[in-house]
Amino acid sequence: MSVNSHSLDQADPLASFRDQFYLPEGKTYFDGNSLGLLCRSAEQAVLDALQEWKTLAIEGWTAGQPGWFHLTEQIAAQLCRITHAPTGSITLSGSTTLHLHQVLATLYRRDDSRPGILIDRSAFPTDRYAVASFLHSRGLDPAQHLVEVPTDGEGLLHEADLLAAMRGGVQLAILPSVVFTTGQLLDLAQVTAGAAALDVRLCWDCSHSVGVVPLDLADLRPDAAIWCTYKYLNGGPGAVAALYLDPRWHELPPGMAGWFGADKSRQFRMEPDLVPAEGAGRLQLGTPHVLSLAALRGSLEVVEVAGVDRLRRKSLELTRYLRSLFRERLADAGFGLATPEADERRGGHLAIRHSLARGLSVALRGRGFVPDYREPDLLRIAPSPLYSRFAECEHLVAEIGQILADGTDLASLSGSLVS
Ligand SMILES: Cc1ncc(COP(=O)(O)O)c(C=O)c1O
Repeated sequence: MSVNSHSLDQADPLASFRDQFYLPEGKTYFDGNSLGLLCRSAEQAVLDALQEWKTLAIEGWTAGQPGWFHLTEQIAAQLCRITHAPTGSITLSGSTTLHLHQVLATLYRRDDSRPGILIDRSAFPTDRYAVASFLHSRGLDPAQHLVEVPTDGEGLLHEADLLAAMRGGVQLAILPSVVFTTGQLLDLAQVTAGAAALDVRLCWDCSHSVGVVPLDLADLRPDAAIWCTYKYLNGGPGAVAALYLDPRWHELPPGMAGWFGADKSRQFRMEPDLVPAEGAGRLQLGTPHVLSLAALRGSLEVVEVAGVDRLRRKSLELTRYLRSLFRERLADAGFGLATPEADERRGGHLAIRHSLARGLSVALRGRGFVPDYREPDLLRIAPSPLYSRFAECEHLVAEIGQILADGTDLASLSGSLVS
């Protein structure tokens, strides 16, 4: 039998972090892997930036705390601590999609006899679109050169398949650390080392791992990594994304260049030729999004205090607890687990398969719960270790039991646009 959720909450060393977040009134939130919630320090940091704009105007670029001119570097340093990345190897410029284009433009080798780029069948759509359009721009047909690794019958990827596919005319791979649908965590060390041995450059899309799965980029040393900051890092809707460029590529010219990628000490000389900044900063493009970065600066403070190791421990406990509740209380209700069982094979969310998952997601929303749904049959449940409670997991499973017991017509709810 599962332990009582209240005793788990009482024993939770991270319980007090919940008070720092704005929890949507009347809702029980399980969508932290889509959009993390607002915390007070993020709010305060935005208010401070607004105040600086109000009072300092243009001088905010130099006289703010910190000056907006160096805000990107300050946040990059926070992210280096969170991901154990070498100093100067992270920058922030635009969306994850934009960073993916930057990685492609910077790391793709024209003179390589292997024109292919590898992704996986379960890749987030933007990864596929970006790679296909990049190949087009190089005069290459994606139907031929975009190499996709299939998933197995359970929707899971296998490291051996990924490495085998890298031998098929591929020079660059874009892969997810945690798969956004199933929540599968790949063996990052094995794939990174295997790619390096094949001279395939590798970029991890870490959108679903940073902030909830410990990363040690200085140890892992992929060629690049990209991630959103609005999920487990709680940086806010559309928050500026992050880009890691391994130090061995810090001398490469940026594939896409902009004036904020210039060496900061001479940026305002307005020279005709770019003198790139040292490190990943050379991949910055235009003027930083100061208000968005301010929120992120505040939210990362919370993540740093909590510590990703502790967040991971609680996250695994929350999802393990949820899993045990599904098994005990909904054993005969047609649910299957899409997320692998072993801790080292799973990220921060639990993906549950059900033929009427869409209708179930709509019904849950109608009752104040916020899970999310992914085509064709996945209910994704993402408790955040910063603000979710074990009791909320228990309520969720009880509510699902109630929805089924009530005989709710889930098939007709499946037609709803909101899921
Ligand atoms: C794995 C993954 N990559 C990329 C993105 C999209 O990134 P962006 O909209 O910041 O470009 C998402 C968004 O949810 C994602 O889950």
